[in-house]
Amino acid sequence: MSGLSGKRVLLGITGGIAAYKSAQLVRLLRGEGAEVRVVMTSAAGRFIAPMTLQALSGNPVRSELFDPGHEQAMGHIELARWADLVLVAPASADFMARCAAGMADDLLSTLCLASEAPLALAPAMNRAMWEHAATRTNAATLAARGVSLWGPEAGDLACGESGAGRMLEPGQLLARCRDRFSGGVLDGLRVLLTAGPTREALDPVRFIGNRSSGKMGFALAGACAGAGARVVLVSGPVALETPAAVERVGVESALEMQREVLARAGECDIFIGCAAVADYRPEEMAREKIKKSGERMRISLIRNPDILAGVAALEHPPFTVGFAAETRDPLGYAEAKRRDKGVDMVAANLVGADRGGFERDENALTLVWEGGVRELAMQDKRGLAAELVMVIAQRYALARGGAPGG
Ligand code: PMT
Repeated sequence: MSGLSGKRVLLGITGGIAAYKSAQLVRLLRGEGAEVRVVMTSAAGRFIAPMTLQALSGNPVRSELFDPGHEQAMGHIELARWADLVLVAPASADFMARCAAGMADDLLSTLCLASEAPLALAPAMNRAMWEHAATRTNAATLAARGVSLWGPEAGDLACGESGAGRMLEPGQLLARCRDRFSGGVLDGLRVLLTAGPTREALDPVRFIGNRSSGKMGFALAGACAGAGARVVLVSGPVALETPAAVERVGVESALEMQREVLARAGECDIFIGCAAVADYRPEEMAREKIKKSGERMRISLIRNPDILAGVAALEHPPFTVGFAAETRDPLGYAEAKRRDKGVDMVAANLVGADRGGFERDENALTLVWEGGVRELAMQDKRGLAAELVMVIAQRYALARGGAPGG
C-alpha cells in the first residue's frame, strides 16, 4: 500500500499552460489512494475546465472565497483544516508573489495562509519570469518560511523559449508527495556539511577568496534537514539565512573549517564537502595592513590541508561525499577525485560556464560512485539538492547494508 493511501491532498491550480498536467496528477494521486480536493484560481479556469477536475477528483471543484453554498460553515477554514498537504501545481509567478506577501484575496491564497498543513509549490512560468529578481526574492522568502518548492526544471517552455521554468512532470510531483508522507529518507541520521568559500588572510583587511555564494551547500543542508537528518553546517562567510532546523558554525579560513569539521566528523553518519576550500593560503599573514611599495609584489603561498580527504581517511569515516568544481570533463575529474581522496561519492559540477556552478541559482551535477554514474539535470539548486539527497540516502543505505534511515 502506498504512503499516500488515505492522505488528503488539497491541490491548488493557478493560471498557466501547465494546468493541463494537473489533471494527470489528480489521477495519479487518486490511483495511490489519496483523497484529492481541487481549488482553482479564476485564471486557472481559462486553461482547464473545472468539470474535468471534478470528474477526476470525485469532489466538487471550488474557486470562490465567498461561496454561499459553503461559507455559512466557514467552508474555507474547514477546507484548510481538512488537508494533510497543500500542493499548488502549477504555481504561477503571480501566485508565488501573493503567497510570499501573505495575501488572502481569493480562496486559494486564503487557504495557503489558513492551513497548517505543509505547503508545496510547483512553479511553472517563462524563464525570464523565473529568473527575475522579484521571483528570486519571493522564492527565497517562501523557502525560508519552510514552503517546499518542487521544481521548476529546465527544458523547452510553452512560450517557445528554453530554460528553467517547466513544471515538474505529474509523475515527479507524485514522487515528491510520496516522499512527503513516507518519513524522511535521512530520518535519525547526523549530517555534517561544509559550504561557501574560505578566506585566506593576507593582512588584517585583505584576503584570498573565491566566488562561492554558499547557495548549493545551504540548499543541501536544508534538503538534509527536510529529509529528517540532524544537520550541522560549517560555513565560510556568505550572506545567506541558515535553513530551518540546521545548526550553523561560521568560519573564515580553511584551517578554521578543518578544525570545526574534524571536531565533529567522528560523530556524523554522512559528511558532505560542498565548500570551495582554498587550496593554498599565504605563508604569512602580515600583522599590519600591507603598504604600497614597489611595482611588483610577490606572495608566497603554502598548501592548505585537504579537509575532505582528511575525513575520508579517519579510522571510522562517515559516508563521505565530495564535490568537484571543474571547467571541463566533470566525469573524468570526478572519478579521479573519488579515487584520490578515497571518498564514497563525488558530485561534479561545471564552473565558469554559461549556466550553473558558482553564484547562480541553478546547477547540474554528475554523480560518481564506485561502479556508478548518475546525471542530475540543470535546475534550481533547491530541487537539485533534494534529488542529490535521495541518491545519497540510497548509496548510504547500500554502503551500510540497511534501509535508509534505519
Ligand atoms: O556556493 P555556490 O555559489 O552555490 O557554488 C557551488 C559550488 C560551485 C561552490 C559547489 O557546487 C562546489 O563545486 N563545491 C566544491 C568546490 C571545490 O572546491 O571543488 P574542488 O574540486 O576544488 O574540491 C574538491 C573537493 O575537495 C570539494 O568537496 C572540496 O570541498 C574539498 N576540498 C578541497 C580543497 C581542500 N583544501 N579541502 C577540501 O575539503
